[in-house]
Amino acid sequence: MGEKKLGVLVHGAGWVAGEHIKAFNANPHTEVVAISSRKRSSCERRAAEAGLQGVTFYTDYEAALAHEGIDIVSVCTPQHLHAENTILAASAGKHIVIEKPIANSVAEMDAMLKAVQRAGVKTVVSFVLRWNPLVETIKALVADDAIGNVYCVETDYQHDIASWWTGYEDARTKEKGVSAMLTGGCHALDAARWFAGEGRYDAATPVEVFAYAGGWRKGQRIEFNYYTNSFREAPPLEYDDLEIVLIRFDSGALGKVSVNYGCVMPYMFPIEVFGDRGTIKDNRVWSQKFPGQKGWVEIPTILPDSADVSHHPFQGQINHFVDCVRNGQESHCNLEDAIKTHEIVFAAQQSYATKQPVSLPLAR
Ligand SMILES: NC(=O)c1ccc[n+]([C@@H]2O[C@H](COP(=O)([O-])OP(=O)(O)OC[C@H]3O[C@@H](n4cnc5c(N)ncnc54)[C@H](OP(=O)(O)O)[C@@H]3O)[C@@H](O)[C@H]2O)c1
Repeated sequence: MGEKKLGVLVHGAGWVAGEHIKAFNANPHTEVVAISSRKRSSCERRAAEAGLQGVTFYTDYEAALAHEGIDIVSVCTPQHLHAENTILAASAGKHIVIEKPIANSVAEMDAMLKAVQRAGVKTVVSFVLRWNPLVETIKALVADDAIGNVYCVETDYQHDIASWWTGYEDARTKEKGVSAMLTGGCHALDAARWFAGEGRYDAATPVEVFAYAGGWRKGQRIEFNYYTNSFREAPPLEYDDLEIVLIRFDSGALGKVSVNYGCVMPYMFPIEVFGDRGTIKDNRVWSQKFPGQKGWVEIPTILPDSADVSHHPFQGQINHFVDCVRNGQESHCNLEDAIKTHEIVFAAQQSYATKQPVSLPLAR
């Protein structure tokens, strides 16, 4: 008799949900048994796209959580719903994939962690770039001492987030999106923590943050469309499009991370990691381990150079999480770890207000 598959509920049937469904479908140990969303038509569209048969659709999340045989819930709704959705899923005893950003405040994060710990369920947060082949390669090189001790990391999320995105209407607002560093820049913060962490599966712990915010898009009713290389009218961002954050990690390493929604160019995610025995710039390596080196060693691999969710390595993330659930292990990218990344965002907000460095963890 075959092993019973883990049942999956995907909640919030939008852009990213399609990739979660594909990844669970392709995993031999899981089966998507239900999809829930605000509109039944969105659930139907996602199921049809993935060629799913016999899936149950819900427009009531609590009814969906009560569907028989659900072991894992993927929370793919807009970010202002993640805390409530996660707490309900944990209280129902489900393991949870939580899309980034996990929450809109420190209080929400604390409540989520409490619910998850009380229920004893496993979580993974969609810092999906940890499974990108270049990011995996850099992490392995750093852990293998290819560039010595990391003392400086720079990562940047350069993305013209605008009305092309289905989630823009909520995310562009101060109330539901909060900040550029929270909505998108958290990917770059997480990458900086990941590269500054010493072990193969450790992300560095931030201990202090100082930040500036600026740019040009806040309140402007125009946005750039790089497909046509032109500007068009659009609803405005309610927060600054540029944030530059300086981070001191517990190892002593420093990080410089930016989010830039005002960039007039296609999406880019540049990476620089400086060690005391070598340097990595994107997929190029200079290391004391190559004594005859006369130029940068270029690694042919897949770079994090596309914002399209179909380019993101959700399969790697979901396979990893299914292994964690099946083996009763915690993910390196679980809720507790992701809170450290998100605390940098909220510390930056405090730094804009006080014009002072902010110590982490944040005072409760
Ligand atoms: N990890 C990554 O790389 C990555 C990439 C993209 C997005 N994301 C994150 O994923 C989340 C979703 O983004 P998205 O791009 O998929 O946005 P999206 O296309 O707008 O999808 C969100 C879905 O949530 C549903 N929804 C909204 N309010 C709801 C409610 N009250 N109850 C139930 N369902 C509700 C909407 O449903 P209806 O269609 O039924 O109205 C919509 O289809 C965001 O937090 C975003 O930052 C992460």
